[in-house]
Amino acid sequence: MAAQLNLLGKNILVTGAGRGIGRAISITLSKQGSNVYALSRTPSSLESLVKEHKSIVPIVGDVNDWEDTKRKIEDLKVMDGLVNNAGIMNDFAPVHSLTRQQLCAVLETNLLGAINCTNVVTEKMIKEGKSGSIVNVSSNSTLSTVYGGIMPYVISKAGLDAATRQFAYELGPHGIRVNSVNPGLVWGTDMTNANLKSNPELREKIEYRTPMKKLVELDDVTGTVIYFLSDLSSMVTATANIIDGGALNCIIY
Ligand SMILES: NC(=O)c1ccc[n+]([C@@H]2O[C@H](COP(=O)([O-])OP(=O)(O)OC[C@H]3O[C@@H](n4cnc5c(N)ncnc54)[C@H](OP(=O)(O)O)[C@@H]3O)[C@@H](O)[C@H]2O)c1
Repeated sequence: MAAQLNLLGKNILVTGAGRGIGRAISITLSKQGSNVYALSRTPSSLESLVKEHKSIVPIVGDVNDWEDTKRKIEDLKVMDGLVNNAGIMNDFAPVHSLTRQQLCAVLETNLLGAINCTNVVTEKMIKEGKSGSIVNVSSNSTLSTVYGGIMPYVISKAGLDAATRQFAYELGPHGIRVNSVNPGLVWGTDMTNANLKSNPELREKIEYRTPMKKLVELDDVTGTVIYFLSDLSSMVTATANIIDGGALNCIIY
């Protein structure tokens, strides 16, 4: 039988689901007939998501709080998939000025929060003998340095890529796949708008350096995430996948 998405009726937890990329992923999965569990901190953004897409189950939570997150996920059915998307960008700061607090704040959310969610979700999968797929939303900035001031963010995502491989290695024998998606700047999210505010020429510069001559859009990321959650990628694990229209791998003079 030809390979298929097979996302209908699958239980999938998406973190950072209230806004931006996580919200777009949740909506796309819901349209595919998955049972989506949408976790983020701000109740109002989850309320508006559920108002538009009634089958989505909202979970108000902060991935930085390991115990609370664990309790909330353990109360749910066993998952088929997890998208570790919750993430923050640091305020731009030169490397030599960084404080321990600035580094820890970003590592807590982008790396440790994702590790905790993966642990809780996969422990339950293993206990119930269920296979599954974990997708970590990383960044193309782990693979090449393109601008300054974002050291906390870059090392958090590089750690996430390393965690992806480690989890894939150890969870593969249980039928659980783990992959990263690594977008460039994604047009239209709050995180991107903050970046563009401090560097207004960034869009133009990226478009110039990108073979596809445009910024990444939400659908470009959701499509790739859906592929990794689905049976179409059934033998793909431990990978990092750049979504940036070719920018990192091509030098345009
Ligand atoms: N935008 C880009 O250009 C880009 C490029 C590459 C990778 N990424 C990655 O893609 C992911 C989503 O980015 P985005 O652009 O969609 O950002 P965004 O618009 O700022 O949305 C981030 C989401 O994460 C949630 N969140 C933040 N901290 C959280 C926490 N501690 N616990 C639970 N939820 C939390 C936010 O909601 P609350 O504040 O309500 O919790 C929000 O729903 C991030 O991991 C980011 O690093 C983004």
